[in-house]
Amino acid sequence: MSPHAIEIVPTGANNWWKESTIYQVYPASFKDSNGDGWGDIPGVIEKIPYLHSLGVDVVWLSPMYDSPMHDMGYDISDYEKVLPAYGSVADVEKLIEACHQRGMKLLLDLVINHTSDQHKWFQESRSSKDNAKRDWYFWRPARYDQDGNRLPPTNWRGYFAGSTWTWDEHTQEYYLHLYAKEQPDLNWESAAARKAIYDSAVRFWLEKGVDGFRVDTVNKYSKFTEFTDAAITDPKSYVQPAIAKWCNGPRMHEFLREMYDEVLEPYGDVVTIGELANTPDPEHVLKYVGAEAKQLSMVFHLDIGHVGMGGLEDKYIFHPWQLTQIKSIVGKWQSFVEGTDGWTTVFAENHDNGRSVSRYGSDAPEWREISAKMLALMNVALTGTLFIYQGQEIGMINAPRDWPIDEYKDIEGLGYYREAERQTASGVDPTRKERIMDGLRILARDHSRLPMQWDSSLHAGFSTGTPWMRAHDLYPEINVARQENDAASVLSFWKQVLALRKEHRHLFIHGAFEVVDFENQQTFCFVKSREEKKALVALNFTPESQPFTQATVAGEMKLLVSNSPGSSLDTLQPFEGRIYVS
Ligand code: GLC
Ligand code: CA
Repeated sequence: MSPHAIEIVPTGANNWWKESTIYQVYPASFKDSNGDGWGDIPGVIEKIPYLHSLGVDVVWLSPMYDSPMHDMGYDISDYEKVLPAYGSVADVEKLIEACHQRGMKLLLDLVINHTSDQHKWFQESRSSKDNAKRDWYFWRPARYDQDGNRLPPTNWRGYFAGSTWTWDEHTQEYYLHLYAKEQPDLNWESAAARKAIYDSAVRFWLEKGVDGFRVDTVNKYSKFTEFTDAAITDPKSYVQPAIAKWCNGPRMHEFLREMYDEVLEPYGDVVTIGELANTPDPEHVLKYVGAEAKQLSMVFHLDIGHVGMGGLEDKYIFHPWQLTQIKSIVGKWQSFVEGTDGWTTVFAENHDNGRSVSRYGSDAPEWREISAKMLALMNVALTGTLFIYQGQEIGMINAPRDWPIDEYKDIEGLGYYREAERQTASGVDPTRKERIMDGLRILARDHSRLPMQWDSSLHAGFSTGTPWMRAHDLYPEINVARQENDAASVLSFWKQVLALRKEHRHLFIHGAFEVVDFENQQTFCFVKSREEKKALVALNFTPESQPFTQATVAGEMKLLVSNSPGSSLDTLQPFEGRIYVS
């Protein structure tokens, strides 16, 4: 629980998680305690005092379950075991204890749309057509074209490129997997499967004392089980984008409500943060996050991470973006809860995206620190629960542009790259390989998975062995040890502004949001207000000085914090950020 007193605010019931700052730990890359090159739970425990000193209230641990690691643990082979490289169930219990001792909480990642193909449920399901667990997954017969060639039951393209169906020789049927073929989708239509999921994945850990879950791919449990073809948008390909066929299916809300009533609610104010892709309609989102709906506490709207990306088939082709896009996205997911009993989230990074400094600021040596602080100001001033991703607090940046594809490990990025290689080689699209590589340099999930930069010793102080991913070339400059005792560092700035967020929680965590310079493509100025109190936030997203359009209003207010002390009122310096309060 936050060490700060919780007040009654006008936005609905108070829950401990609304005013919490949540820090995401990606266990493989956080801290290796035994030199095998993989981060581990004892390493996380060692760093809890550091997280506490940063001002973090809650740790969200990305998957640490037993897994063959095709998708970095989002392919779980046993919900009740921990990947041996990460430690044991007893280690997680120690971590819960370490968090609770400091008044902090621990969340796990709940990955229950699919399991690993190595999970015993799937092993049983695939063993025969009449196995009792056959319908715990989706099995369908093949179809055939005019020439008698076997085809998957639908033309759906999966997230990691290729079909969503894989043929199983043994029982002569296809099974469904929205992600890798090693991640078969669970069939939530089966009540027995749901009960097993609740017991093994959820209750098991609630009994151990975890305080909640980040809920992976939350709106895909209910599919449109007619399994019809998606419209053909890419005539060159058999597989077609088909997200509408599996997102927000007809029983979605029923399933989540059942899980809430039967599993979560008995454990008190357990927090759940759903990963809610492809749900653009705010009214629809409120069905997930309204307090009365009793489904999820809040959700991540992924739009901010999609800035600069193409659609599903072109995800890793970089598309230049404009600041108005960011303003629209932020404004939309700030405002939609205003006057409702719903709640929202604030984040700029996670393990599925490039680093925010490299994407929305600038990672050029002269700008990276100041733009990291500017983005920190944006984050701390926004309404909702704030999430920070490991390394964001020291302004970690994307991997160097000259790193070759061999340094990239992510199954998704590599899936796109290999597909592009084939298309380039066959002449279907001669420049695609280069375009995808260029996109990966900005957008790949790998960037956030580089080892955490603790100090300037070998491998950034992450590991005494050889890390599973190479440490960033710039770790001697960008690291925790160097920033900890430097009052002007990005880390010190984050500590300062996280404390200010709590102090001015009425405005920053609960205030009503309004953008005041929407058309401006260089600066982002917004107002937060609650009753007669007001904050004005001014952010320059460019490496040039910009006129400060709100100078007159700001002149009447008090400057609370700035990343460029001493600059003049009417000009925002490159990447300058300021917050005024009245
Ligand atoms: C979520 C996770 C991502 C994973 C996918 C499949 O999007 O954040 O890392 O690949 O689900 O589980
Ligand atoms: Ca280790």
